[in-house]
Amino acid sequence: MILVTGASGALGGLVLERLRGLEHVVAGSRTPGQAGQAARLVDFDDPGGLAEGFHGMETLLLVSAGYAEDDVVIARHGAAIEAAERAGVGHIVYTSITGAGDHLSYTLAHRWTERRLMAGSAHWTILRNGLYSDLFVPYAANAAATGELTLPIGAGRLAAVAREDLADVAASVVTDPGRHRGRVYELVGDQAVGGAELSGIVEKLTGVRPGYRPGTLAETRAFLSELGMPGWQVPHLMSTLSAVAGGFLDGTGGDLADLLGRAPRPAHEVIAAALTP
Ligand SMILES: NC(=O)c1ccc[n+]([C@@H]2O[C@H](COP(=O)([O-])OP(=O)(O)OC[C@H]3O[C@@H](n4cnc5c(N)ncnc54)[C@H](OP(=O)(O)O)[C@@H]3O)[C@@H](O)[C@H]2O)c1
Repeated sequence: MILVTGASGALGGLVLERLRGLEHVVAGSRTPGQAGQAARLVDFDDPGGLAEGFHGMETLLLVSAGYAEDDVVIARHGAAIEAAERAGVGHIVYTSITGAGDHLSYTLAHRWTERRLMAGSAHWTILRNGLYSDLFVPYAANAAATGELTLPIGAGRLAAVAREDLADVAASVVTDPGRHRGRVYELVGDQAVGGAELSGIVEKLTGVRPGYRPGTLAETRAFLSELGMPGWQVPHLMSTLSAVAGGFLDGTGGDLADLLGRAPRPAHEVIAAALTP
């Protein structure tokens, strides 16, 4: 039996789509009633309920549950791994963050989780996911609407990856985990996208090439702070932009194409699909 957590989230949902029809697949969610298939209640914030959620499972796809302060994320992942081990789950596949992401403020909780898995009793596979191509979508949408691309990454570029590709890999790994035991996979895109490339993508979609005005991190921080985001979120976003601008996330290559058996989906396809009505 395979359990996929985060079933109502984007990545977990895409993985479950790919596993649809397999009888031995169960969705895990904080809202199992909405999962639309065999589903169990899985809430890492409720460790007491996890034994029931993980009972009888051989393989767990532990989709990281970020979007909180590090101590909360670490507690969530720690509780999930401990409960999985107690329930006798044999293999845990974890969606982590690319090795190039060590300058990102939210990477610490991922690395903590990797260490915890490596020190634990279950077999493991670590999927070090790159940053999603979707990151560019709001900037591209704004550029299409205003004719100006504002994205404070200077000349930096990102080897962005399609969630769909990450879901393809995760689905394939969880259905044959023995082949991937003890492996750490780097899953980044094979083309790096920066301001110039994004302007070109918007031009292809709209016929008008937006000017690229990177702006500054300070302007962006002030703008994000005014949006009323939770306190942890602004530094996380800022660290993403800063790390891209600094040239830390433009490295292509890695394991994605090999695991997919084809070229990764390019970012322009993801952005075009998101912006095309
Ligand atoms: N690589 C990247 O660029 C990138 C970008 C954003 C996020 N991420 C990370 O990758 C993860 C998956 O991405 P995504 O696109 O699927 O994000 P998403 O659409 O926001 O889904 C995240 C899911 O995590 C689950 N979750 C949240 N809190 C949980 C908890 N306490 N216990 C159990 N599950 C919990 C939820 O699923 P249920 O509602 O079904 O419980 C939620 O829908 C994110 O959670 C985040 O850690 C990566």
